[in-house]
Amino acid sequence: MKVLIIGTGYVGMNTGVVLAYLGNHVTCLDVNEEKIALLRQGKSPVYEPHLEETLQLVSDNITFTSSYAEADIPNTDVIFITVGTPSLPDGNADLRYVRQAAEAIAENLDDKFTVIVNKSTVPIGSGNWVEAIMHEHFESNHNNGEKADFNVVSSPEFLAQGSAMHDSFYPDRIVVGSQCERSVKRLQELFGPIMRQDFTPPPGLPRPAGLTEVPLLACDLTSAEMIKYAANAFLALKISYVNEIGRLANKVGADIQAVSKGIGLDKRIGHRFLNAGLGWGGSCFGKDTAALVATARDYRLEMPIIESAREVNYSQRVMAVDLLQDQLKILKGKHIALLGFSFKPNTDDLRDAPAIDISRLLIQRGALVRAHDPVALGNARRQYGDMGVIFCDQVGEALKDVQGIMLVTEWPEYRQLDWESIPRVPIVDGRNFLDRERLEGLGFPVIGIGR
Ligand SMILES: NC(=O)c1ccc[n+]([C@@H]2O[C@H](COP(=O)([O-])OP(=O)(O)OC[C@H]3O[C@@H](n4cnc5c(N)ncnc54)[C@H](O)[C@@H]3O)[C@@H](O)[C@H]2O)c1
Repeated sequence: MKVLIIGTGYVGMNTGVVLAYLGNHVTCLDVNEEKIALLRQGKSPVYEPHLEETLQLVSDNITFTSSYAEADIPNTDVIFITVGTPSLPDGNADLRYVRQAAEAIAENLDDKFTVIVNKSTVPIGSGNWVEAIMHEHFESNHNNGEKADFNVVSSPEFLAQGSAMHDSFYPDRIVVGSQCERSVKRLQELFGPIMRQDFTPPPGLPRPAGLTEVPLLACDLTSAEMIKYAANAFLALKISYVNEIGRLANKVGADIQAVSKGIGLDKRIGHRFLNAGLGWGGSCFGKDTAALVATARDYRLEMPIIESAREVNYSQRVMAVDLLQDQLKILKGKHIALLGFSFKPNTDDLRDAPAIDISRLLIQRGALVRAHDPVALGNARRQYGDMGVIFCDQVGEALKDVQGIMLVTEWPEYRQLDWESIPRVPIVDGRNFLDRERLEGLGFPVIGIGR
């Protein structure tokens, strides 16, 4: 099929590369010309394991453009909208990029049937809104009485950054929200190889043992939009739940890791998303829980569980700084090393990263902060170069003459550091990730979260 992807960020690039790998002819469009120039050289604008290698493998099936007019929209079977939907100050999603994309698509459509798939996470009801904008825009740009023939479908994305390629080839489910049979059939055909799992796995991304099919849930558009928010809010709750239990574990002298293991072994609960630590960050959980609460308010409904999950999450960051202060007593003038700046390992994404709030708090309390990250320093310098953090290319620079250490992101290499050569200063292990026994054996005071 001929597919167009609008927005070449984390979601758009993964979707485009996976569909090209499955034999479709894919065009990726982004208004950011720098990104398009990089992609044309076979380079990914975002760091995501396996993405660049697979992109190079599918180069015959994929093209890049920054022009809607060049994207051959009239001959495209399926168009995916994967632009960003960041938070507005009141928690609502900012839909300006979705609107711009919808208008530009409508301007270039003709009367051939096209499926428009909204993969951006948009507030419940936005599919209908996109459809209305497109009809209006089509009619004002085609004054020959031509009628647009398209359908807007919601197919939310569930990938996790850091394992996005794997999640796109081997998802738990595909959700298609539309009551238009023709659209559902077209998407069943497009996603057929993923549903049947009959493609040859790409190098480095083996199929999980026992995976023989992926269910496609077809439902109405509003339910599909709600599934995305409800799923993200549930995962966010799980993280905040274990962090709240961790606070009590800390007081009563229990070990949250043992408690999590004991809870997670219950199959009704499961072990994932039960690691106590600095809580969630990233582009989705914070933004999507805020948008869900904002949508509920439009209906005069409160969502106290989700609001509490947000409160717990953001106060974990303050708690971690307090833990370090308890150890050092005085933070003023102390040299603190932050290990990790990205919101999680295997990504260079800094959106809502705990490291940002933690750095700000430490600086407010007078500390000198040196931060290291294996892949996110480019973004950190570009986006946060003026916040007063010294970004260090080598972890050794961050740890030179250090007086306190905070592990923020659980990059595997931090477990392998030459800890013997590092001054024995207090470590707050914000992810309960380091080899605590070994470090304590070496003489480091190690403070975990909920331990
Ligand atoms: N990142 C994730 O892990 C993830 C997971 C699931 C869902 N989502 C959702 O998917 C959407 C995209 O997220 P992302 O992380 O890929 O965003 P991103 O910010 O990485 O990428 C968005 C891209 O869209 C481009 N863009 C903006 N307006 C455009 C326009 N009018 N035409 C063409 N391109 C345009 C931007 O230049 C940018 O490159 C969001 O709604 C997000 O909530 C993200």
